[in-house]
Amino acid sequence: MQVREWDPAAAPAEELSSLLRANNLMLATDVPEDPPWRADSFREYLAVTMPDERRVSWIAVEGEDLLGYASILLVGDIAVLEIMVRPDARRAGLGTKLLATAAKRAESEAYGSIGVEVAGGTAAADFFEAQGFRCAFVEMRNLLDLSTVDWPQLAILAEGVGSGYRIEYHPGGPPELMFDEYAHAKATMRLNPSYDLELRPSSYDSDRLRASLATLHARGLKPYVVLAVHEPSGTVAGLTEVVVPAQRPTRADQYDTVVVQAHRGYGLGRALKARMLTELRTAEPQLEDVQTWNAVGGDEAMGRINDELGFKSNREWREYEADVDDVLRRLGRGD
Ligand SMILES: CC(C)(COP(=O)(O)OP(=O)(O)OC[C@H]1O[C@@H](n2cnc3c(N)ncnc32)[C@H](O)[C@@H]1OP(=O)(O)O)[C@@H](O)C(=O)NCCC(=O)NCCS
Repeated sequence: MQVREWDPAAAPAEELSSLLRANNLMLATDVPEDPPWRADSFREYLAVTMPDERRVSWIAVEGEDLLGYASILLVGDIAVLEIMVRPDARRAGLGTKLLATAAKRAESEAYGSIGVEVAGGTAAADFFEAQGFRCAFVEMRNLLDLSTVDWPQLAILAEGVGSGYRIEYHPGGPPELMFDEYAHAKATMRLNPSYDLELRPSSYDSDRLRASLATLHARGLKPYVVLAVHEPSGTVAGLTEVVVPAQRPTRADQYDTVVVQAHRGYGLGRALKARMLTELRTAEPQLEDVQTWNAVGGDEAMGRINDELGFKSNREWREYEADVDDVLRRLGRGD
């Protein structure tokens, strides 16, 4: 068995198909409620990053057989790890070997810590605890099954905003003219202000927002935005973002929902999310569900809105973190 650095942009199509198959075996084993991935834009998903970020990837192969994959995304001051071992090749030390390879590279790139997001109740949580990682943050993933939605009621919720506010729908992302306003609203505060490791994309200034939207499109992730505009001032009072991935187009990801402090209490959070769902029903008729994450014990207002819309808690999502030095020391430097 050999672990080798791997460039998804240049990899032969057969390797990508093997990785996709391994990924779907992993999903069926670890998170069977998740839809399998398709080949659409899979290469781009793996290869493209934000301009100021870099991803280094490896595959573990035995002959032609692809047994595992790992990558680190070098972003800010943290190396964000993804690691996967095909279910039939687990508990033989391969995950440890991939982790050691990734940690050594993080060290040589002068990154001091590694972060990873893990579905709760899976082998991965045990793996990272065994490797000395600490759990830095726990979120609950919520799923909304669109077949259970009361659409006429949702249309009413979507209209329920205080006077002086307008809700706008922008498939593809916010209009260029609103970039500054939009980024400002995001920077002001999230509806859920709890700390997390920021392993997901966020865009707090207009240049980064522009780059982030271009990156999403290039990776096959289609963004949708709904804005609340405060009409007297023309400012962005709130926003919500959803992404529909080409790789699994039946499940959408609800990213940030933000209502700026001064505009809370006018029904904007609920109306933004409700309007988004009504638009998605038409724009993405193949969608079956929408997933979103909330800090455990976090923002109550957001929790109430999600309940009202019909989101159901699905499973914990845990963010683990470790110092690169500690990981390497534990693994005897992985040599
Ligand atoms: C996490 C994962 C990569 C581990 O791969 P692996 O090759 O089985 O890992 P190792 O064999 O090196 O395991 C090392 C140690 O981790 C712990 N561990 C791993 N899987 C475990 C499990 N199912 N239950 C309890 N402990 C476990 C054990 O202490 C193990 O040592 P041992 O086998 O000597 O007892 C694999 O389970 C996986 O692909 N999971 C799904 C993908 C995923 O969720 N990745 C994380 C998010 S990107």
